[in-house]
Amino acid sequence: MRGIYAELGDAYRVYAPGRQSHTWVFNHPDDVRRILVNNHRNYTKGVGFDRIKILLGNGIIVSEGEFWKRQRRMMQPGFHRRILGQFDGVIARANDRLLAEWQRKCAAGEAVNVTDDMSIMTLAIILTTIFGDDLAAMTQETGENPFAVLTAEPTRDLRFAYQFRKLTTLIGKCVASRRAAGSQPAGDHPDYVAMLLNARDKDNGDGMTDREIVDEITTMVVAGHETTASALNWTWYLLGEHPEVEARLHAEIDASEEAAVPSLQAMEALPYTNKVIREAMRLYPPVWVISRRTIEADTLAGYTVPPDTDVFFSPYFVHRHPEFWTDAEKFMPERFEQQTDDRPRLTYIPFSAGAHHCIGETLAIFEMLVHMNRFARRFRLRRVDNDPVEFEALINLRATRPFTMRLEPRQNY
Ligand code: HEM
Repeated sequence: MRGIYAELGDAYRVYAPGRQSHTWVFNHPDDVRRILVNNHRNYTKGVGFDRIKILLGNGIIVSEGEFWKRQRRMMQPGFHRRILGQFDGVIARANDRLLAEWQRKCAAGEAVNVTDDMSIMTLAIILTTIFGDDLAAMTQETGENPFAVLTAEPTRDLRFAYQFRKLTTLIGKCVASRRAAGSQPAGDHPDYVAMLLNARDKDNGDGMTDREIVDEITTMVVAGHETTASALNWTWYLLGEHPEVEARLHAEIDASEEAAVPSLQAMEALPYTNKVIREAMRLYPPVWVISRRTIEADTLAGYTVPPDTDVFFSPYFVHRHPEFWTDAEKFMPERFEQQTDDRPRLTYIPFSAGAHHCIGETLAIFEMLVHMNRFARRFRLRRVDNDPVEFEALINLRATRPFTMRLEPRQNY
């Protein structure tokens, strides 16, 4: 896509022999706005989602129409700031567990596999927000963390799909027993199993079936863990390559008091840390391509796109669009210091936009801010090699090889 973009720019179509049809690609924010906002009713989820459906059944990332609307409305309150604020302890504990491990490795002079560690930590967070204390019970029952397959296996092939499907049985058992026991949270904070069991359709008062809840849970596990892990992974990589940015980040963090359990509000009040994370997601958006399919014909970039046609747009290219970003390849968090309002909307879309925009945006940002605050306070991370970084554009944007990094202790270590 980088090759074609250099040659053809914002709008082009490519013949996909496997599907015997053209896929159209649009990377200008105006066209993205038409697809996601102005004419979004003319689009269904596209070809990328057919495969995800094998894993996620009918969860909101793949569902459509009235059913999607109903599910989204019922889930939305669970992502209210008031609820997310109560996950502060969950996020702090997961970070502290990793911190103890990194402190030990740092003392022993061992490097860390940042890619794996981000994945394990973000998985622990999302699972605990979903299952509360039931996670420990499930782990005890099976003798190991039954969700470990998600971090151990980056390939999302059919074998993975089979293993993942087995997890749904386990989740189903948890949901059923929780329903039977009165749908209360399992622990000292809200959890999504209880929230989904108690959610009601405001039109008719109906709740979700166990099957529907299981699909939404698997959706949240997949959508909520790899994406956040990828964003953190790229952030560490970028900080390691840009000591001047790192120094400004350190200055902000060192000037702030460290709380044992940082709150959402306190984290959001750290302007430079927020910009570092935003800028990392601009350069390396975890969801690097988004697909839709036309229902009726539409006009995009002056072309008539036929009905029932696959349309892609890519946050990766939108975020580098030369019309809207200066020195687009450079890692410069300061660029977000200018009022972003003078840039047209939809030039920055790591969480997409419109009706289907990411429901977990604030949760993800909260997790990332806490992590950076805890860890950049104590360590500098540097890659152990200088090999060129290449992409593996799977569902998420990954580097072909994990980032192995050396830990250098800072004064607060
Ligand atoms: C840095 C982290 C994350 C990134 C970059 C990200 C990105 C995205 C994007 C681009 C979409 C839109 C896909 C589309 O329009 O086709 C999306 C949707 C979604 N995300 Fe996230 N996400 C992140 C974290 C999370 C978290 C923590 C959750 C937790 C539950 C989550 C749950 C979802 C769900 C359920 C949807 C589907 C929304 C709908 O279609 O109504 N995401 N995400």
